[in-house]
Amino acid sequence: MSSHFDSTVLERELSETLSEKRYQHSVAVGETCVRLQHRYLETFDERELYHCGLMHDIARDWKAAALTHFAEEHHLNLENEERDFAVLLHAPVGAALLKERGFSNPLCVAVRYHTIGSIHMGRMGLLLYIADYIEPNRMHLDDDERASLLLEPTLEALCLRILEAERAHLHSKGKVVTHSGMELRQFLQEGGRL
Ligand SMILES: [Fe+2]
Ligand SMILES: [Fe+2]
Repeated sequence: MSSHFDSTVLERELSETLSEKRYQHSVAVGETCVRLQHRYLETFDERELYHCGLMHDIARDWKAAALTHFAEEHHLNLENEERDFAVLLHAPVGAALLKERGFSNPLCVAVRYHTIGSIHMGRMGLLLYIADYIEPNRMHLDDDERASLLLEPTLEALCLRILEAERAHLHSKGKVVTHSGMELRQFLQEGGRL
């Protein structure tokens, strides 16, 4: 299904509501989703895929109290970690906002799981999860690391590399991966395909 939203209108909205940095990130994630689709021969409508990346952090600048309030009001289904770390709520809240505005189900599901990763996130979710991690403004990767990730033969293998890196990073800070992320990692290790 093709997206009926106008990219220019969405970009203008975000440029007026997000910080400059977040806006640049959002555009870059949208563009990276499309680039990944070309690299890995996926077949999503290109405009819809771009909108998925563009809109994924729509609720990222909300205050914790506002996110919590929205999640309660809308009876959102949450993972335990999302109750404990309110910033993670920008994913389910963003997905609910986009759903209300008529964005497609695959797009909303992708946004819903973009922070924690999930076996339920779908292939659009897989593209978004990866793009959010590797987009060129991200300073935690250098060009060599980015290029090496893109040598992975499949999106699943690439996602697994990212999950491993995230796990090592969290571990070094004394934190653990979410249940949903761990389940995804195991699923991909066993050869699962999204
Ligand atoms: Fe996010
Ligand atoms: Fe993001």
